[in-house]
Amino acid sequence: QHEAREQIIEAHELAAKLYHYILMNTVHGQEALAYLRERSFSDKLIEQFQMGYAPPQWDTLVQLLMKRNFPLRLMEQGGLISARHQQEGFVDRFRDRVMFPIWDRNGKVVGFSGRIMGEGQPKYLNSPETMVFNKSKLLYNLHQARPQIKRTGQVVLFEGFADVIQAWNGEVLNGVATMGTALTQEHVTALKRLTDRVVICFDGDDAGQASTLKSVPMLEAGGLHVAVAMLPDRLDPDEYLKKYGAERFRHTILAAAVTPAKFQLLSLRKHHTLLEDDGKRRYMDEAMKVIAPIDSPAEREMHLKELSAQVDISLEALKQECFEVRQKLQ
Ligand code: UTP
Ligand code: MN
Ligand code: MN
Ligand code: MN
Ligand code: MN
Repeated sequence: QHEAREQIIEAHELAAKLYHYILMNTVHGQEALAYLRERSFSDKLIEQFQMGYAPPQWDTLVQLLMKRNFPLRLMEQGGLISARHQQEGFVDRFRDRVMFPIWDRNGKVVGFSGRIMGEGQPKYLNSPETMVFNKSKLLYNLHQARPQIKRTGQVVLFEGFADVIQAWNGEVLNGVATMGTALTQEHVTALKRLTDRVVICFDGDDAGQASTLKSVPMLEAGGLHVAVAMLPDRLDPDEYLKKYGAERFRHTILAAAVTPAKFQLLSLRKHHTLLEDDGKRRYMDEAMKVIAPIDSPAEREMHLKELSAQVDISLEALKQECFEVRQKLQ
């Protein structure tokens, strides 16, 4: 079992070298290289994150693995290759994709994510769950981000690894991401081992906002202090960084991260129309559920004042209402 794991990891390290070599040094990699440069991944970033290209041929990796005497059945279990349908032999799992190695906490390559160039499904093809690759535990870039997480006392949690990479380029060196899965209890535990402050910086689209709302209580239940960085215009961090630059990202997005309550209130405000009494009432009820449980009286009052202005109800009335809701919570 131990031996099998070692061999699978060794094969991943070899595959990462192969894909990176093809990208950087062969004519087959030229289109992929142009794609990466077009996306503003500099050569320095391409090196740092060992990006590569898996060519369209059926068995480029299979051939190399055979030559190096890796047992192919095991390589199939490791998710690098697949058995042919109704035939002998194996084919590469990743073909004609830009390759991003995925490292475990020790910096060993344990999986890949391969992006299609342009449109198509799936956008990212990931390694399957294997004995070395566990998506519900793994945090992308943790091995590189760990020193800066310790130094700054906080971690930035992104939704996608393109965001982690582009943020790294902007000198945000404490970013990690889940591998396309929702945040799990195991992720929370892994984060808590390193720090107790998390800044969530998910995509500005509806999906990103929804995952933020789901992730906050999980992180808080795990004993982490949470702040939420919000992106305008449905941009994701990668897009924002390219559009507005790293300075502005660090100062007006990350440094301006808000409390989870503030984030929830802003999101409620977006989803309610206050034109008639009915809408106002519903907005107020929902907002009250967020405000009432807040421990700090000053913070409660701050939110109540804002609510008062929005729904045009006196602060006194809202305070009374808030008091009553709090009573029921106890
Ligand atoms: P996004 O759709 O936001 O992708 O998914 P992205 O990171 O912005 O990618 P680009 O910029 O279009 O290249 C967020 C994350 O969800 C996972 C990936 O980990 C991705 O980083 N994902 C997404 C998949 O695993 N498979 C997919 O097909 C799509
Ligand atoms: Mn290189
Ligand atoms: Mn998205
Ligand atoms: Mn995205
Ligand atoms: Mn993106």
